[in-house]
Amino acid sequence: MKNYKALSGMALMFLGAMSGCRAIEAIEPIDLSALAEAEQAKVDLGQALFFDPQLSSDGLVSCASCHVPTQGGDDDKPVAVGVLGQMGPRNSPTVINVGFKELLFWDGRASTLEEQALMPLFADNEMAADEQTVLAYLGADERYQALFAAAFKDDAVSLERVAQAIASYERALVAPSRVDSFLLGDEGALNASEQRGLDFFQGNCAFCHDGQGVGGRRFEVLGDQEPWPQDKRHDRGLFELTGDPDDEMVFVVPQLRNVSRTAPYFHDGSVETLAEAVELMGRHQLGEELTKSEIDDLVAFLEALAGEVEPALLQAPMQAAK
Ligand code: HEC
Ligand code: HEC
Repeated sequence: MKNYKALSGMALMFLGAMSGCRAIEAIEPIDLSALAEAEQAKVDLGQALFFDPQLSSDGLVSCASCHVPTQGGDDDKPVAVGVLGQMGPRNSPTVINVGFKELLFWDGRASTLEEQALMPLFADNEMAADEQTVLAYLGADERYQALFAAAFKDDAVSLERVAQAIASYERALVAPSRVDSFLLGDEGALNASEQRGLDFFQGNCAFCHDGQGVGGRRFEVLGDQEPWPQDKRHDRGLFELTGDPDDEMVFVVPQLRNVSRTAPYFHDGSVETLAEAVELMGRHQLGEELTKSEIDDLVAFLEALAGEVEPALLQAPMQAAK
């Protein structure tokens, strides 16, 4: 569906009702009971793979090099740096709470974590892995033999299993926040400023940043109300993929859980502070200059949206003695 152009709330609700999806337009608390019961053995295998630089062509880069779980799930750099120090074109998004996204990458070119997982592994400017080398390495390593056997009944190694395990690990990276507690009825969970920020957000921002991920479900034009500055338009978003003029500057609305820990901001990592990112959203997406107190409240709310992942998932798993 390509109805990401500025539609009125009514029109969107109508469209959502027609298509049976999309029309959430509010943020929702994380529903822990609805999360698929991740199989622990697959999560364990996925965690080992996620932190393993041996999978990359130069033995130095793992998924965790660019998505550092202890540092908000991204890398603090404007754009990603892969094997041989190569710079990629875009900012690394966080993997924390990524299981709530329905559209992956800044341009939505993957829609499941399984599909996504193998892309950076083989991308020349990320891990530049070689399929045969990866399969041979995993098949010969005793620790992996045990992990594959526990996760999949037998120890056969395949790329499909690698992808499934990494996706299971990522889905376990959930970080419920004080905002969730508040939405679930704990009125003391947010202070007055955070509550004002939440109200403002639900009324003005959740139109785009919605659902349990607080984003990750829609394509929108960056600069919908006021064009994004000309000198910052070298990456034209979905247009780069489709060449369709309607896709000019169309990006996936990012999820905002943990956003206070993932500076710098935007697809090009060009903005340093959350306050500035919020101010730019007001100007370019809402077509208004937000006041200082509105920005302060929104930032307070976004900070309250950060939560903690289970600590055991944040580090490379212990290496078994060889
Ligand atoms: C060299 C740095 C780098 C490495 C290594 C890397 N990534 Fe990424 N990752 C990125 C960048 C940059 C993007 C966004 C690219 C884009 O949108 O075009 C991304 C996007 C993602 C996304 C989508 C996030 C979202 O919000 O849409 C997931 C999930 C992800 N990576 C997981 C992984 C996994 C799993 C691995 C290891 C197999 C990995 N990454 C390795 C830099 C990296
Ligand atoms: C019309 C849709 C739309 C509205 C309304 C909107 N946003 Fe966004 N937002 C986006 C898109 C699209 C991006 C990604 C831009 C890019 O490509 O870098 C984004 C990015 C962001 C980012 C940067 C995230 C990151 O990880 O880099 C923040 C923070 C943000 N929005 C906050 C807000 C706030 C606060 C509001 C309300 C004042 C708001 N947004 C309203 C569409 C919207």
